[in-house]
Amino acid sequence: MSGNTTFTMIKPGAVRNGHIGAILDKICAAGFRIVAMKYTQLSPKKAGEFYAVHSERPFYGELVDFMSSGPIVAAVLEKDNAVEDFRTLIGATNPAEAAEGTIRALYATSIGENAVHGSDSDENAQIEAAFHFAGTEMH
Ligand code: RTP
Ligand code: MG
Repeated sequence: MSGNTTFTMIKPGAVRNGHIGAILDKICAAGFRIVAMKYTQLSPKKAGEFYAVHSERPFYGELVDFMSSGPIVAAVLEKDNAVEDFRTLIGATNPAEAAEGTIRALYATSIGENAVHGSDSDENAQIEAAFHFAGTEMH
């Protein structure tokens, strides 16, 4: 059975471009409940740890530089079927391939600077939520 928790980050590009409010609006309008949230910035080390699964990929250096380049919004979200429904809401990794109306189609500027992160499995949602919010009470 699929779980009801996912984890997201509004990435530095979307924060710099002033899209925090619009993106949170879309997330809430789609039926997600915010149970934890913070405005923060990843160090290069933390960004590298978060995306360690991609450490052998050619884009890893760029990804770490970008994700640590400015503030982000990190949040834990709840909804039935959260992981899959959130991936549908954000659209494909490459905004050129993202469906119309999705968050990446609207607010991403490139495949590297693609506005938001969304967990790709229930297991990773738990790991990623703990990475940012260990010890934080969820409401
Ligand atoms: P995310 O983890 O950030 O939600 O993105 P995703 O699942 O849609 O994509 P993933 O394969 O996990 O890749 C992580 C992030 O790496 C950057 N990327 N750049 N230049 C490239 O070819 C390339 N491919 C991936 C993207 O920013 C992607 O979100
Ligand atoms: Mg991913």
